[in-house]
Amino acid sequence: MECPRGLAGVVVDQTKISSTAGAHLTYAGYPIEELAHASFEEVVFLLWHTRLPSENEIAVFRHQLVSQMVLPAETVRLLLYVAKEPQHPMSILRTTTSLLGTTNDVDHDEPPKILAKMLITVAAIIRIRANEPLLEVDPHLGVVENFLYLMTGKRPSKELARMFSTVMILHADHEFNASTFTARVVASTFADYYSCLTAAVCALKGPLHGGANERVFEMLLEIKEQGLDPREFVEDQVKQKRKIMGFGHRIYKNGDPRAAILKQIAGKLAAKTGNSEYFEIQRQLADYMLQRFNLHPNVDYYTSLIYHCLGLDKEVFTMLFAACRTVGWLAHVMEQRNENCLIRPNSEYVGPTDRHYLGEQIQK
Ligand code: SDX
Repeated sequence: MECPRGLAGVVVDQTKISSTAGAHLTYAGYPIEELAHASFEEVVFLLWHTRLPSENEIAVFRHQLVSQMVLPAETVRLLLYVAKEPQHPMSILRTTTSLLGTTNDVDHDEPPKILAKMLITVAAIIRIRANEPLLEVDPHLGVVENFLYLMTGKRPSKELARMFSTVMILHADHEFNASTFTARVVASTFADYYSCLTAAVCALKGPLHGGANERVFEMLLEIKEQGLDPREFVEDQVKQKRKIMGFGHRIYKNGDPRAAILKQIAGKLAAKTGNSEYFEIQRQLADYMLQRFNLHPNVDYYTSLIYHCLGLDKEVFTMLFAACRTVGWLAHVMEQRNENCLIRPNSEYVGPTDRHYLGEQIQK
C-alpha cells in the first residue's frame, strides 16, 4: 500500500482554524496579509472562536490576558533553578510547560490563562538566561507590548510594537504542521492542555521545524564572521548533504506568504539597528537558492534576523516561535477535544512473519 512520505498531501481531518489552500494562508477565512495589520489579541480571539471580537470583547479579552501574565511563586522558583542550566531553552520550556499546571490548574486552567502563562514563562527564561531581573506586566500596555517589555526590559515604541504584533500573528497558526498535529494527537486522548503543549514544544524543537530559525542565524553568523561568499557556503553545505536552514516548505513551493511580509520587517529593523550586513547576506543567499535550487525562504528565514535585531540571543529564537504558536496549538486542542475522537491510524506491517519462539534455547 503506497503511503506518502511524511503524510505529504494526506488530508487527515477537517479544521475551521486556518488554511493554506492554493498556497494562500488564511485564519478562519481572513487572508494573513490583512490580519498582519490587526491586533494580536484580535487574532487570538479569531483563532479560538472563528470570528473577530467586538470592541467590548477585545477590551475584556486584552485585560484578561494581561492580568494573567503572572508567574506563580513556585514556577519562579523552578525557573530560577532550571533556566540557568546549560540546557537549551527549548528543553527548559519543555520541562516548565509540563509543570506549569499545578494539580488543580491542570484540569481547570482555560486557554487565556495558559497562553498568558506561556508568554510570561518564555520572557522569564530569557531574562534569567541574560542574568536580568524578572519584571512584572505593565497594566497600561497590551499583550505584545508587555511581552516585548518583559523580555527586553524596554517598553517598545508604537512602530516596534506594530512590527512585533505582525511577527506574532504570522507565527500564530499554520494548519496541521508537525507540532500542531502532535498537540492534536495528544488532545485526542483527552490529556490535559499542558500535556498537549509539552508534546508540541518537543516537536517544534526539531531543526526541520521550529528549530530552523536558530540555525538560520548561526548560518548568517558563520558567513559574516568568516567573510564567506554565500554562494560558496551553499555549495559547501550541499556537498556535505546538509539542508540550508530557512528554505523550502512542505506546502509552499513558490514562496511562503509569511516570508514576504517578514522580509519587509527584517529590512526595516536591520537598517534601524545596524544589522544591514546580515540582511544583505540574506538577500544574496535567497537569490542563489532560488536560482540554483528553486527554493524559497520560509517563515524562519527572516524571523531569525528580526529576533537578532531585538537584541535576543539566537538560542531563544525557537522558544519565541513556541510562545506565538501556543495560540494555534490551543485552538487545535480545543477543536480536537470537541471532536471527541481518538487519533489512531493504521499501519501496514512489512517486517518478518511466521516466526515461533522455542524457549530459551538458541533460536533456529
Ligand atoms: C517550519 O509545516 C509547516 O507548516 C511548518 C512551518 C509552520 O509554520 O509550522 O511552516 C514552520 O517548520 C518551516 C520549515 C523550517 N525548516 C527549515 O527551514 C529546514 C530546511 N527545510 C527543509 O528541511 C525542507 O524544506 C522541509 C523539511 C521544511 C520541507 O521538506 P519537504 O516536505 O521534503 O519539501 P521540500 O519541497 O521543501 O523539499 C523537497 C526536496 C528535499 O527533499 P528531501 O531531501 O527532504 O527528501 O528539496 C530539497 C531536498 O532534496 N530541499 C532542500 C531544502 N529544502 C528542500 N535542500 C537543501 N536545503 C533545503 N533547505
